[in-house]
Amino acid sequence: MTPVRIAIWGSGSGSNSQAIIDYFSNDPEVLVCLVLSDNPDAYILKRAEQVHIPALYINEKERKNPEWLNALMTEYGINIIALAGYMRMVSPGFLRCFRGTILNIHPALLPRYGGKGMYGMRVHEAVIKNKEKESGITIHRVNDKYDEGEIIFQKSLAIEPGWTAEILGKAVLQLEHFWYPRIIEKIAKKLRETL
Ligand code: GRF
Repeated sequence: MTPVRIAIWGSGSGSNSQAIIDYFSNDPEVLVCLVLSDNPDAYILKRAEQVHIPALYINEKERKNPEWLNALMTEYGINIIALAGYMRMVSPGFLRCFRGTILNIHPALLPRYGGKGMYGMRVHEAVIKNKEKESGITIHRVNDKYDEGEIIFQKSLAIEPGWTAEILGKAVLQLEHFWYPRIIEKIAKKLRETL
């Protein structure tokens, strides 16, 4: 059977991409084939290089060219794009021409604490400031609005009294690393039956 081919797009440290790469490292049915970044210095690219996965920086002109980007995904045979800390909007043009699935992970329980400008520590700071009792992660499909695509999976965690945004951020990241690969796996195995 044909394996499902995954591309990970990110702009920063790439700890989620590492978790995904590690999780599928011995799985012949799901292959991480490409890591892409809009930031030439992003550590996510180094992580991929270390395990000999093609790691590509794409510049603004390339990023904004849906046909070019789609041709790149086709060249690598990509079925699933997993955004992991990718700080750019996926262009509507690309959403129209890419035939596969595009997923994102968000470090809060959407639809709350999402949208433009809600990323990284800003999310956790807002959650703590509002004295929320819980937070968590959301994995969703990507559409042309920030953090608004169909929700596929959520997992919550209880916020203990006295937690800072930093402590919450670490707890949320642990949940991400555990669940993102597993949800990708679920979607990939379903998709594989159709290939
Ligand atoms: C994660 O918190 C993810 O939810 C968000 O960006 C962060 C990326 O972290 N979309 P990393 O680059 O995977 O370490």
